[in-house]
Amino acid sequence: MGTAPLRIGILGAARIAAGFCQGVAPSTAVQVTAVASRSAERAAAFAQAHAIPRVLPDYEAVLGDAQVDAVYIPLSNDQHVPWALRALAAGKHVLCEKPMALTVDDVDRLQAAAQAAGRVVLEAFPYRFQPQTLALLARVRGGRIGALRQLSGEFGFTLRNDADYRLDPALGGGALWDVGVYPLSMIRALTGRLPRTVHASAHWGPGGADHALAAVLSWDDGLMATVQCRFDALVHRHLRIVGSEGVLACGFHNHVGPGQDWIEVYRAYDGQREPVPQGNGFRLEAEALAALARGEAAHPDWPTWAETRDTTRLVQALLRSAASGARVGP
Ligand SMILES: NC(=O)c1ccc[n+]([C@@H]2O[C@H](COP(=O)([O-])OP(=O)(O)OC[C@H]3O[C@@H](n4cnc5c(N)ncnc54)[C@H](OP(=O)(O)O)[C@@H]3O)[C@@H](O)[C@H]2O)c1
Repeated sequence: MGTAPLRIGILGAARIAAGFCQGVAPSTAVQVTAVASRSAERAAAFAQAHAIPRVLPDYEAVLGDAQVDAVYIPLSNDQHVPWALRALAAGKHVLCEKPMALTVDDVDRLQAAAQAAGRVVLEAFPYRFQPQTLALLARVRGGRIGALRQLSGEFGFTLRNDADYRLDPALGGGALWDVGVYPLSMIRALTGRLPRTVHASAHWGPGGADHALAAVLSWDDGLMATVQCRFDALVHRHLRIVGSEGVLACGFHNHVGPGQDWIEVYRAYDGQREPVPQGNGFRLEAEALAALARGEAAHPDWPTWAETRDTTRLVQALLRSAASGARVGP
């Protein structure tokens, strides 16, 4: 007999939620069963576009719905923690968009609430669940490129909407919280530890959020990392991992599709593409939540509370450094 799918309710008719619905549609482990929006019209249109059976009047109604096992929170960044806490109090599992929280205290608060409620909270970083990332981490952990020496990650795109919450620091805006967290979380996943110091420089947008930011991270043993993110460039996303015996590179994409299903491996100047399986990160992260909700063990390379806490600490340190011009400890 098969396991019943995890029934997911969505808070907000967000742009990313549309991609999420498309990604999870073929899954038998999860099913989107309800959606609510601040606008009844948007919720109805969203439900129709994604064949979601039920439109509920507001976010609270999703939390109170007995036919919802878990909620997906794709709200503006400032709303993640308040709604995740409410969802846990209502007995729901939570798939929370990145960044899960904007302060380390809030990460701790959420972890304590999840433990008290006996429910799962997973940070929705699709790239962390797809096969390219897992293959990359396996190669590094297996010693394929020797000792880590230098990591560099970039993520940027053109933000065209002047009313986007990403431009407002009060709503958790800024390039670092939006896209810089991808390379930062990857660096934390690869190293498993915080750097000794960080140093960042930023260009600030008119609303006061970082529009472009570049950072250098340093560890005591000589390991260094650089991160760049911005809101005014052609979309780009790269990761390069330099070791004592080799170099790995890829796009650490959210979803591995045709043309992206490889990792580049250099032993000297001779880069070769090694194929990896394809996979949709939305579907894989939602199926990970379902597995954890069933009590199954986490894959050792899925994100952990410690990693989320450290990535949050790094963002806070980098913003402090960029604002003050000083090198700081995270
Ligand atoms: N994992 C990924 O690949 C990925 C990619 C893009 C974005 N994200 C994350 O997903 C989240 C949403 O991003 P998005 O691009 O989908 O944003 P979006 O289209 O602006 O959606 C955000 C939703 O939040 C709700 N909301 C509540 N208060 C809001 C406020 N003050 N301003 C704006 N929206 C508010 C709205 O829902 P209503 O329908 O109720 O009005 C809106 O639809 C962010 O946390 C972002 O970091 C993740």
